[in-house]
Formats: sequence, C-alpha cells, structure tokens
Amino acid sequence: MPLFSHDTKAEALGQTTLFSGLSRRELAALAKVTEDLDVASGKVLCREGETGREFFVIVEGQADVTKDGEAIRTLGPGDFFGEIALVEHVPRTATVTAATPLRFFVLTSQAFWSVLDHQPEIQREIVKTLGRRVAGGLDDPTSS
Ligand code: CMP
Repeated sequence: MPLFSHDTKAEALGQTTLFSGLSRRELAALAKVTEDLDVASGKVLCREGETGREFFVIVEGQADVTKDGEAIRTLGPGDFFGEIALVEHVPRTATVTAATPLRFFVLTSQAFWSVLDHQPEIQREIVKTLGRRVAGGLDDPTSS
C-alpha cells in the first residue's frame, strides 16, 4: 500500500547526491518504481558484510548506523543509505537498525536498472555525478 506521494519521493530522491543531477521528470520515473515500507523499532534494515540490493530513503523516524558494533550516527527523515548497492553488488559497510518505528521507501537495484534501460539519459546524468565524485567534487556518498 502506498504510504507516500510520488512528489514526496521524487523530492527526497533529488536530495541524494547520486540523483542530484536528475530532472523532476527523471526523479518521478524513479519514484514510481520505489516500494513504501514501515517497520517496528529494532528491525535491522541492512547488515554489515551482507550483499545489498536496495537503496533506502527515510521519511519518518530514526535509524542507527553501527560499524563493528560501534554507533556511528543516527539517521532521520530525508536521510538515505545503501546507494552503492544500486551500482555495485558489494558488502554493506555498516548495519542500519530502526531506532523508532520507521517509515521509508526503497529502490531496488533491479527496479533502478529497468528504469535506466528505458531512459539512457538518466544513466548519463548519474555517470556525470559519479565522475564529479571521483574527481573530488562531491561529498562522501554516505553523508546526507
Ligand atoms: P551500504 O554500505 O550499502 O549499507 C550500509 C549503509 O550505512 C551504507 O551503505 C551507508 O549508506 C551507511 N553508512 C556507512 N557508513 C556511514 C557513515 N560513516 N555515516 C553515515 N552512514 C553510513
């Protein structure tokens, strides 16, 4: 069942570094294939060392990021995590756990790539964004 409007999701996706270069129409295309979820406090959303396939954007509530059992930071509404999983199947670098009841949406790598297959202009924008990051022009992808 949808929890959030497409506009809310497109706007949240546009705030992320990976998608910062996309137009409203392109963001809307990605928002359309996301899935809305809510979980109880204590639910582990991704676990350090496991391979990830989803990118998460928090809409309501808070989540704790831990690494090697140590607290790193707490994420809240508008924060996102796991975007590397969209472009590469690599192990999660941290564990993220719901610290309160949490409402969020996810973009799976499968849904992401199926949109990119049909809209190559989105690929071009993302490659440009990643290029700027490689050149040191953008912040750490893990910070919001
Ligand atoms: P990923 O490695 O896919 O899964 C765990 C996520 O936690 C990671 O992506 C980041 O989005 C997030 N994360 C990892 N390290 C930090 C950090 N130091 N600060 C904030 N978020 C982090």
